[in-house]
Amino acid sequence: MKILVINGPNLNMLGKRDKAVYGDKTLSQIETILKKEGKNLGVDIVSFQSNSEGALIDFIQKNSSKATGIIINPGALTHYGFSLLDALDDSGLPVIEVHLSNIYAREDWRTESVIAPVAKGQISGLGWQGYVAALQILVGELKVEK
Ligand code: DQA
Repeated sequence: MKILVINGPNLNMLGKRDKAVYGDKTLSQIETILKKEGKNLGVDIVSFQSNSEGALIDFIQKNSSKATGIIINPGALTHYGFSLLDALDDSGLPVIEVHLSNIYAREDWRTESVIAPVAKGQISGLGWQGYVAALQILVGELKVEK
């Protein structure tokens, strides 16, 4: 089983950007934790981050046929990324949307996710642990379906 872990714009700045909101772990530290948890769960993790919506879509199109699920933090594309939404939908894969911060407790414009309708579910506000929970839940469900 291969799980794609995708992070959108500005998430390469984790560890430096607004730590009170996003925590102090870098993206690379989070990816290492997920790789370790993937090993425990018996799945391969393929991580990708880009600041560009096109590159995220190219990655999804190229890798989804060999993958079993997607965990994505779309960054600000959450709120307006319709092309990303279509790519996720077209992948036909189960998607879990993750946000480090609680998008419902911030500015009004952050409270809408255009991605949520194609996601199995969303984890918002639990920091880096939200990615780990998403991985455990996604793999648990995929193993039941198998
Ligand atoms: C975010 C929330 C978004 O509103 C924001 O634009 C991000 C990060 C989060 O993880 O909390 O870049 O997706």
